[in-house]
Amino acid sequence: MRIIPVASGKGGVGKSLVSANLGVAFAQAGQRVVVADLDLGASNLHLVLGHHAPARGLGHFLNDIKSGFAGVIAETDIPNLRFIPGDGEIPGMANLRASQRNSLVRHLLSLKNDTDILVLDLGAGTHQSILDFFLLSTRGLVVSAPAVTAILNAYVFLKNAVFRLMYSIFRRGTPAGLYLEQMRKDVSGKNRQYIPQMLKEIARIDPEASARFEQNMTHFHPRLIMNMIEDPADADVAMKIRRSCEAYLGIGIEHLGVMYRDSLQDTALASRLPIVLYKPHSVLAQGIYRIAEKILQTEDENFDLAATEIEASFQDAALEAEADFETRTEYVEELLHSGALSQGDLLETVKSQQLEMAKLKKENNFLKLKLSQAAAKGFKP
Ligand SMILES: Nc1ncnc2c1ncn2[C@@H]1O[C@H](COP(=O)(O)OP(=O)(O)O)[C@@H](O)[C@H]1O
Ligand SMILES: [Mg+2]
Repeated sequence: MRIIPVASGKGGVGKSLVSANLGVAFAQAGQRVVVADLDLGASNLHLVLGHHAPARGLGHFLNDIKSGFAGVIAETDIPNLRFIPGDGEIPGMANLRASQRNSLVRHLLSLKNDTDILVLDLGAGTHQSILDFFLLSTRGLVVSAPAVTAILNAYVFLKNAVFRLMYSIFRRGTPAGLYLEQMRKDVSGKNRQYIPQMLKEIARIDPEASARFEQNMTHFHPRLIMNMIEDPADADVAMKIRRSCEAYLGIGIEHLGVMYRDSLQDTALASRLPIVLYKPHSVLAQGIYRIAEKILQTEDENFDLAATEIEASFQDAALEAEADFETRTEYVEELLHSGALSQGDLLETVKSQQLEMAKLKKENNFLKLKLSQAAAKGFKP
């Protein structure tokens, strides 16, 4: 059974959309799929999937484990696709006890007998439970959007994932564990080191633990999805995440592809259908199918990803962003010519995009202000 966790750091960037639609795409490709809503406390995956409001879901199960796990697995109208709803019985991941988390992982893993792919729709944030679910795979998905805050959150999420991995491997009491603990306690930040430097130091003081970590890291290649882009230039921000990950976290991330913002998604949601069923030929649905295809093509997750493959994944994504953009503009032209879209509609769209841009500018100014305040305090970026 392949486990595909879908994370982001920030909420509202499209985790549930990706989880639900990938689930459908995999099922259509003949895989036996289970999609689980682990965004406990804010679960809404059933809406994206077009599933009726769940009578009982994971929250119910976690509060009363004796009620049985089988009861939360629901069939859907789509052949090969089953669904585990979240429900709002518990306030969220932050309230999940370690025993509940372990029990949940055990039960999810027990699905392996009759499941090919398990998709985990994770909550926002970087709570330990979320990181642990993400680390059930070495190739978890990270969804981001071009907005600065979304990128920051994706990066912070990955950074926390690497730290979580370090804590799980560098055990307490060992030289590496003690060093990690000492770094964590350094609140002054005077001795703060970036992860690659920390790893160098650990290799010196605890070669055995270091080798074990390296072993894990060679397989650790999270996969990025850039959602809600508006034009090909937005895809460039993926490069920024990639470079930061390489320089400061010591990890190579793969680019799985881009997905354009598509207003058809709103009508799909209102029609209670995943976009790949509602409008399979839309640019957004095609983007999802393309990503599903790439995932299905990678057989085993325990293989090394060569630097050239990482580079190729970014080049492919950039080309796909260009191609999608052209398809989108063709759509607009066709719709205009056929009269389906009036110039008034077009004006409306431009207006709403300007509003969006104004919002982003505000966000940008806020971040600039923070930077200059930090600079005034002597912080050098
Ligand atoms: N590419 C897209 N185009 C248009 N709307 C989108 C797109 N991706 C996500 N959305 C919409 O954005 C909102 C947040 O998406 P969702 O999948 O619920 O995010 P998350 O699960 O990360 O919180 C939803 O209303 C969803 O329909
Ligand atoms: Mg969600």
